[in-house]
Amino acid sequence: MYNSKECYAIVLAGGNGERFGDATPKQFKKLAGKTIIEHTIEVFEKSDIIDKIFIIINPYFRYLIEEIVLKNSYKKVSKILNGGNTRQESSKIGVFAIPNEDSYVLIHDSVRPFITNKIIQNVIINLEKYESVDTCISSPDTIVKINEDEIIDVPDRKKLLLGQTPQGFRTSIIKKAYQQYEKNPFKTTDDCSLIIKYGLGKVGFVEGDRFNIKITYPEDLYFADKIFQVRSIETTASWEKVKEEILGKVLVVFGGNRGIGREIVKISESLGAKAYSFSRETQVDITEPEKVVSALKQVFEKEGKIDAVVNTAAILYISPLESKTYNDVLKEIMTNYYGSIVVAKEALKYLKLSKGSLLLFTSSSYTRGRSLYSIYSSTKAAVVNLMQAIAEEFEIYGCKVNAINPERTKTEMRRENFGYEDENTLLSPEIVAKKSLAVLVSNFSGMVFDVNKNSEI
Ligand code: CTP
Ligand code: MG
Repeated sequence: MYNSKECYAIVLAGGNGERFGDATPKQFKKLAGKTIIEHTIEVFEKSDIIDKIFIIINPYFRYLIEEIVLKNSYKKVSKILNGGNTRQESSKIGVFAIPNEDSYVLIHDSVRPFITNKIIQNVIINLEKYESVDTCISSPDTIVKINEDEIIDVPDRKKLLLGQTPQGFRTSIIKKAYQQYEKNPFKTTDDCSLIIKYGLGKVGFVEGDRFNIKITYPEDLYFADKIFQVRSIETTASWEKVKEEILGKVLVVFGGNRGIGREIVKISESLGAKAYSFSRETQVDITEPEKVVSALKQVFEKEGKIDAVVNTAAILYISPLESKTYNDVLKEIMTNYYGSIVVAKEALKYLKLSKGSLLLFTSSSYTRGRSLYSIYSSTKAAVVNLMQAIAEEFEIYGCKVNAINPERTKTEMRRENFGYEDENTLLSPEIVAKKSLAVLVSNFSGMVFDVNKNSEI
């Protein structure tokens, strides 16, 4: 239906990111284990509506794009074109490179990685009706009109929208617009304005997404990280897919004798995986590297591979810093932080061979320290930072590293520390374990996955 015409996607990546202010343009910054532009291209690559992708670049960074295209074996990327000095020039170069006049084209900022297939679909559908289609959202803030330094009008907010990308066009129309533009240029930061300016047809709009942000300033990366976190928890594998993927896998779970770890062992085994559990009870303390080394070695010698390593081991002492003994402080740091380091460091050797997955555990207190939990919460913050760093380091081996952030879960550790609590307010270890398995088989890396009551899978 909407796929009646050929559809092109122009991904604009010719900018230098002056406002972001980094030596390498922002589209090459890492987000959730991949560069921003890889996330963007992936959406078009996976969309069943898009036929071909053109990437517009700054020739100085061509090598980076070529590496990315080769590494991902994209099937749809058919041109990598040197762009111009302005966004407008870059768009124009992309548009003029389209061979088929009777097609549709979507022009999109490479630095908007949260574009969705739904938006792509809606834009294309509306191109049947309109010569061009913009993607817009309403503004949560009042928009004011100024003149020099005074407000001269406060227009009705319902009549003002915020423009995002993609912007879609009938190819022949946007080509005509750019031909006119060459004769009669004007300054703008979007392509739909050309259609209006030269009177080439109607410009429709579809609803964008308030998460479809443009990475402009360095702080935007923090928002983007968070958006990925919120999104990804919904997009990890379905339970059907988990079942398929986990069959025949070899898992090593440190801290697997109780709580969430035990549940991961139990469930993965019931799905036909081999799961090996190690803990202090089996004389494997993760603060002793040689114990971790021999545990992993033993599994590898038996099974010939290790696909995933999980570390759920942790200890929690609740007390004010003032009354903590140095011995207890060290115990918490050693198990929660140093232990994660040891597991990560020793697991890599095996995960490299299987292009496997490492899963660490954090706690909701990682974003903000909590009184009485000073050591626990700061070690859990350290685990997240460690996970992000090694996700980047392990990426060259095709390994994935993530962290699970479970809400209050019904575990022995909790009961020991909190006594009786209303069960209905606690998460079952089974949900956390299932979500952990979904993360293990997913392609995400470098991410924290919040697991809460809504995470049921
Ligand atoms: N763009 C482009 N060619 C240019 C300028 C910009 O293809 N000559 C692209 C950018 O790479 C980006 C998109 O247009 O994906 C949106 O532009 P913007 O956010 O302004 O990016 P930059 O121009 O790179 O950033 P800045 O304006 O801060 O320099
Ligand atoms: Mg710019």
